[in-house]
Amino acid sequence: MEKFIVQGGLPLEGRIRVQGAKNAALPMMAAALLADDGPLVLRNVPRLRDIDSMGAILEALGVSVARRGDRLIMEIVDETPFTASYELVSMMRASFCVLGPLLGRRRRAKVSLPGGCVIGVRPVDLHLKGLRALGAEVSVENGYVVAEAPRLRGHQIFLGGPFGSTVTGTANVLMAAVRAKGTTIIDYAACEPEVQDLCVLLNKMGAKISGIGSPRLVIEGVESMHGTEHTVLPDRIEAGTFIAAGAVCGGDLTVDPVRPDHLGAVLETLKQIGVDLHVGANSVRVRGKRRYGAADLTTLPYPGFPTDLQAQIMTVLTLSDGISVIQEKIYPDRFMHVAELCRLGANIRKEGSSAIVLGVAGLHGAQVMASDLRASAALLVAGLAAEGATEIRRVYHIDRGYDRVEERLNAVGARVERVVDQKVRMMEDAA
Ligand code: EPU
Repeated sequence: MEKFIVQGGLPLEGRIRVQGAKNAALPMMAAALLADDGPLVLRNVPRLRDIDSMGAILEALGVSVARRGDRLIMEIVDETPFTASYELVSMMRASFCVLGPLLGRRRRAKVSLPGGCVIGVRPVDLHLKGLRALGAEVSVENGYVVAEAPRLRGHQIFLGGPFGSTVTGTANVLMAAVRAKGTTIIDYAACEPEVQDLCVLLNKMGAKISGIGSPRLVIEGVESMHGTEHTVLPDRIEAGTFIAAGAVCGGDLTVDPVRPDHLGAVLETLKQIGVDLHVGANSVRVRGKRRYGAADLTTLPYPGFPTDLQAQIMTVLTLSDGISVIQEKIYPDRFMHVAELCRLGANIRKEGSSAIVLGVAGLHGAQVMASDLRASAALLVAGLAAEGATEIRRVYHIDRGYDRVEERLNAVGARVERVVDQKVRMMEDAA
């Protein structure tokens, strides 16, 4: 078990590089199942445990997966497997995205339900509703989704749910619809940049998708698809995390490459509270001053404020001169970081699906526990801002989404040490 020891209070200076987007790369890897011939080559694929988990699932489904530098080369070697096991799917929810392409290309799929998750219940009813609308017979048997369709048929599908659109649900239905007979219309499709980039990739593979980036996707089914090459877009959530770190640490940090238009709601909030940002074509420069004004924010589907940056921006708001109200409209229970931030001196009260942040003058180092990917990113941002040493346990969570983050932060002036903690391991094993 590894932990981070963060010596806080140091300014971040220089240029920090953003990697390819994990949440774009994962469904794109599943798209490899749709190619009738030729390899799918993805460039700018981050080196992350979740990418390896998706690779393992694809290999179990008859796809060879090879890494050369930042490229992943995937090619189908065996068309017969159609089962993604609980052992593999439970390691990472995004692997449920193999359901759509399996059904679209191999006509049947048996994929384990992903199960619970610390950030919320996370049902998959909309994924199944969409596939049923395309004519698939879908049942849930012994924890597995079993789906079959000798021929999928295009249909008009409303894919909105109680929390708005669904990112991986849109990806799943899309990757089945590209191989259906006739036209499919997905209404209330997710508009996230990662979904847009997936549509661009699928079109390069021979699909016919229009309306990309809008809530109405129109898909003309095609008879065959092929491999291609594609560069994964930069990770807007990683970029936002580094911008948050630059804001609370002081100094002069340039974050790149970034698509600033993908971070509209976040940059707007940061400007509103007084963060000094210079937004370039592919970069964001942040000159932090550690203490800001307050702001209210509500997480919403794109282009609203992303839930995946709620915890990190909450950390910035803990250092404000006022009261901020943060409403979580995507995952009402995604507040595991609140208690840990309070251990670092923040003053936050949770009220249902909202958090009320009363700004404090400073944070101070303490021992804290990471509970999930974005909560652990927020603790890292807080540790960088805090006076003294912060110990963050269970950093395997952060490794799921940020490749060697401590090396990149240390290169711009942070002091973050990765330590193997045998004692933590014994205590956790006993718990
Ligand atoms: N929902 C339903 N029914 C469904 C699917 C979703 O009610 O069938 C609800 C969810 O419970 C949630 C909302 O709809 O309240 C949105 O969920 P969505 O399906 O969009 O989430 P996801 O596709 O499972 C992706 C990201 C998450 C990110 C969310 C929201 C990937 C691999 N994961 O999850 O990323 O938080 O979209 O933007 O793309 C992360 O990277 O840390 C992360 C959790």
